[in-house]
Amino acid sequence: MIKKVSLRSFRNHSKLDLEFDNKFVYINGPNGSGKTSVLEAIHYISTTKSHRTNNDVDVIKNEQPFAVIKIDTEKKKYSMVISDKGKIPSINSKEIRKLSDVIGDLKVIMFAPEDLNIIKGSPSVRRGLIDLELMKIDKEYLSNLSVYKNILKQRNAHLKNLGLNDDLTILNILGKQLYDVGIKLMSKRNEFINKLNIETKNVYQRFSEYKIDVVYEPNLNNEMFLNHIENNQKQDILYKTTVNGPHRDDFVIMFNDKNAKNSSQGETRLMVVALKLGLLKVIKSEVNDEVILLLDDVLSELDNNVQNKFLNELPDDVQVIMNSAIKIKSDKIQIINLKENDNERP
Ligand SMILES: Nc1ncnc2c1ncn2[C@@H]1O[C@H](COP(=O)(O)OP(=O)(O)OP(=O)(O)O)[C@@H](O)[C@H]1O
Ligand SMILES: [Mg+2]
Repeated sequence: MIKKVSLRSFRNHSKLDLEFDNKFVYINGPNGSGKTSVLEAIHYISTTKSHRTNNDVDVIKNEQPFAVIKIDTEKKKYSMVISDKGKIPSINSKEIRKLSDVIGDLKVIMFAPEDLNIIKGSPSVRRGLIDLELMKIDKEYLSNLSVYKNILKQRNAHLKNLGLNDDLTILNILGKQLYDVGIKLMSKRNEFINKLNIETKNVYQRFSEYKIDVVYEPNLNNEMFLNHIENNQKQDILYKTTVNGPHRDDFVIMFNDKNAKNSSQGETRLMVVALKLGLLKVIKSEVNDEVILLLDDVLSELDNNVQNKFLNELPDDVQVIMNSAIKIKSDKIQIINLKENDNERP
């Protein structure tokens, strides 16, 4: 359980110190008061990245040299210093050199409005999700993924200067290496998405009478991938890049047996929320560690009925940190109010 979040020069917060004393924390405040930023900071500690920008310096408060995030759980103290020179994480005051050693140490599952792109957006969004989530539970996947990306880069660089009549020895060696590690990624993705499908269906059932399916769509199956690498090099040489492979994988969400991409905003939100709660289940079952659920603005666009159902159906075996501009009242929930344009806690 997270007990404390301290931010220095992070987004609009010059100095913010929050203490959580409950399994269910609700951060309330007007638009722009920095609610999302608090969740973003927790997510940053978990993944070493922001969920809403690829540019690390965006999170540093304007005109400031660096940002600091500190998070205390019951067991550990995490911190991250972010500057234009990079980011330095520590756990229990010990600096961690390799970012990959920090990723997933604190386990969070986040729902953010950006996640609606999982349904409406391009395959790369969905691949990003699968890779990010698998990284949290499977260090081998993380290292295989980085090996794969590395070989792919080399192979593509090699293809840039290769003609149809050139010697293909190096291309074939790189191709075989790509295949060997690529099929490991595919097999993990397949296993993971099957589990995710089961859990997501289960959750979704509680909110809706409709049916949802999560289906892995590998770009190539193993046999086709091998064939592509061994016999179909011509295509890659012509296009000067590795046209096919797991780097083009996708998964699709089906709503009543149709691709969900044409669903309404509320339906989409509910599906993504179900997917995230499903993810939470899968990850909890895979790791022997607590997982924290972050819900950014999850209530908007859901009708009252679904909002209430949602609040009642939230898992009670994990800490849930949620924010919204909607005011709620409850004795069971810790409510934190952020003030407009105010950097200090009131
Ligand atoms: N690097 C930065 N430096 C200073 N302020 C920033 C920086 N980045 C973002 N902001 C501002 O921080 C404020 C807080 O943003 P945040 O998204 O956390 O608000 P929010 O409370 O979640 O709002 P909403 O209810 O609209 O979702 C915004 O006013 C934004 O313009
Ligand atoms: Mg917000």
